[in-house]
Amino acid sequence: MKILITDPIEESCVNILKSEGFTVDLKPGITKDEIKRIINDYVALIVRSGTRVTADIINEAKNLKIIGRAGAGVDNIDVDAATRRGIIVMNTPGGNTISTAEHTMSLILALARNIPQACEDLKSGNWNRKKFIGVELYGKTIGIIGLGRIGREVAIRCKAFGMNVIGYDPVVSSEVARKFGVELVAELDEIYRRSDFITVHVPLNEETRGMIGKNELLKCKRGVRIINCARGGIIDEMALLEAIESGHVAGAALDVFSEEPPPKDHPLIKHPKVIVTPHLGAATEEAQEKVAVQIAQQIVDALKERAIVGA
Ligand code: MLT
Repeated sequence: MKILITDPIEESCVNILKSEGFTVDLKPGITKDEIKRIINDYVALIVRSGTRVTADIINEAKNLKIIGRAGAGVDNIDVDAATRRGIIVMNTPGGNTISTAEHTMSLILALARNIPQACEDLKSGNWNRKKFIGVELYGKTIGIIGLGRIGREVAIRCKAFGMNVIGYDPVVSSEVARKFGVELVAELDEIYRRSDFITVHVPLNEETRGMIGKNELLKCKRGVRIINCARGGIIDEMALLEAIESGHVAGAALDVFSEEPPPKDHPLIKHPKVIVTPHLGAATEEAQEKVAVQIAQQIVDALKERAIVGA
């Protein structure tokens, strides 16, 4: 049985699959046409976020049983097309949690204290202390949209900074939210109205695409700071730029973009009040190792009919 991997992945993934008797073809950077040409030879396909597994690829994959995503988000996979063909789509939702929560905290702190801007300024030979006056996290309200694995870890860390943590998640109860130190609110509007910082931790799907647009930003407190380590496209980028330019939003920290890599002259990315990283939420040695091992083990278990996990 042959397994195709089309994005870079830790070696441990390949080693586990080979030790279980599978033939593995590692082809990072392969083109879509090439995938369509060869996919029929494989029972499983493993991707990270680089490969878009579209319906036309899936329709060529007559022998494919599983698409494995080494990571959490499956928005780069046409899950409906796979389901129609009886192909299982599985992810590794836990492997990235801590790394992404820690990256979110890094961005919250960097945004509050203007760290990237001050760093760049000092490296250019300046010594501007007044220009980079920031704000404390202590006593501020952070609104967490989405209280899944990552949102909860972010909540715990924000509590440690003395923040008042409120959260919105329609599938989480107040009791569960309280365990993570979060006051659950019933309406998103309350998050917008009360928060000094807003961080989103929801997947990108038809419900969440563009969920924070012009109207939502206008409902926010003046001076709010916005963080997105989830998916580009959840926050309308042009609306965010306008809100920052008008001074209504004090700044934003973004790890993800509606188009990745984004266009080089992206005005939001260039804005001095916006700090950015190139989708680094899960980019740690630990997270990459965890997702590589988890996806390999899950695929082995599923193909050997032991268990189906993360589907
Ligand atoms: C994920 O969904 O696992 C993270 O955003 C990292 C990634 O896309 O590789």
